[in-house]
Amino acid sequence: MYTRKLFVFRSLTMPKFVINGGKPLNGTISVKGAKNAALKIFPVALMTEEPILVSNLPEIEDVKRAKEMLVALGHEVEELGGGKARLQYKNKTCVNLPADLVKKFRASIMFVGPLLATCGEVNFPHPGGCVIGAGTRPIDMFLDGFVKMGAVIETQEKYYRLTANKLKGANIFFPKVTVTGTESLMTTACLAEGITILKNCAMEPEIVALADFLISVGAKIQGAGTSVIKIQGVKNLGGGEYKIIPDRIEAGTFAIMAAASNNGEVLIEDCMPEHLEALWALFDRIGVKYKLGGSSIKISPAKKLLACDVTTHEYPGFATDLQSPYTVLMTQAEGLCLVHEAIYDRRLLFTDMLTQMGANIIMADPHRVVVQGPTILHGRKSASTDLRAGISLIIAALIAQGQTEIENIYQIDRGYEKIEERLQGLGADIERINN
Ligand code: EPU
Repeated sequence: MYTRKLFVFRSLTMPKFVINGGKPLNGTISVKGAKNAALKIFPVALMTEEPILVSNLPEIEDVKRAKEMLVALGHEVEELGGGKARLQYKNKTCVNLPADLVKKFRASIMFVGPLLATCGEVNFPHPGGCVIGAGTRPIDMFLDGFVKMGAVIETQEKYYRLTANKLKGANIFFPKVTVTGTESLMTTACLAEGITILKNCAMEPEIVALADFLISVGAKIQGAGTSVIKIQGVKNLGGGEYKIIPDRIEAGTFAIMAAASNNGEVLIEDCMPEHLEALWALFDRIGVKYKLGGSSIKISPAKKLLACDVTTHEYPGFATDLQSPYTVLMTQAEGLCLVHEAIYDRRLLFTDMLTQMGANIIMADPHRVVVQGPTILHGRKSASTDLRAGISLIIAALIAQGQTEIENIYQIDRGYEKIEERLQGLGADIERINN
């Protein structure tokens, strides 16, 4: 009884989005800096005593958590305004990562290697983040990599303690392609003794951006952006400037949003269309009308959208982070298609909420759904289960008839800066209710 009252009270007091669907989307929207690039620069600040000037930082909850983590570890984060911040070594406090922060975002695992390399010890609980994998998302490939580099691991209940007198270069093969795993071991290896070779690496643009920055502050890295990365350890790293690359997932999400609403002209600016080739190949097949500029994408209304199967894949394949928006788009396309989520076990569960809105979706198994379109969607109460499901519910709400309420919007704020204000700029009827 008490729990139920608490739940009702919480859902009455937690902020939510209220969206009235069916309004045409028109105008220009700008893309912010990439969340998954921004999060990886804060741990690097633990590896140098010189300042790092970061620009194009998105104002999102995950970035706030990464800043809090750095401060908790004894560094200074000076806000310079306009998406700029100066990260500066102060009094480094080793060796415990604050549990409350670690549990809030998966990229907190990136702090482990730099602390291990500079302090010789680090203690932390299992990291949190979106609930999209089986159980808690595993960190075995990070741990195996650190062990190969000479670390000793002790596990006590849900805590890990890693120690290493001196990290050494190693030959590491990733059994599965891992983005943060590649970034973490590449970064840590910069201060390990000797040569590290990473094989079967992820090739995302954010990895290349991170490697370019590390090289600019003294690291010796070859091959980032390919499946084999070679790192020659150095004694120390210097300071420098890092401009966060545009968020390709945000750009792709806006392009899909405009295509799904299909009733106006939307110009997406400040992005890198070359990072979304897999999406353009799909757009060609389903009939979306789009035009790419050097740093912009224009989406115009199409006569008809056709269904097309998709399988998510590591970069440069079709990004898992665009799968949920694409599934919403398929509810508006003519025909039957299979959406195959190959990376995560739980990322298709949100389709249940689309079905409740009127979509015709059948789940074949946790990795596959069949979507039959087009269908009219109807607004209803829903809740964001993870970041990408959340933005997809917004897209569904924008094209639905009637009103939709979306709760648990912290999940959306984790990755999209002031999303309601930016969508209002396109004519969307979306409001944040803070209660
Ligand atoms: N995996 C393991 N063991 C590990 C690490 C990963 O089994 O030690 C598995 C994962 O469970 C998953 C697969 O390997 O099945 C790929 O996971 P990966 O490590 O590549 O994911 P990640 O690095 O944790 C990053 C992004 C994700 C994005 C994926 C795939 C960050 C902070 N996160 O996650 O972004 O979906 O790469 O591109 O960079 C998001 O932004 O919404 C998001 C989830």
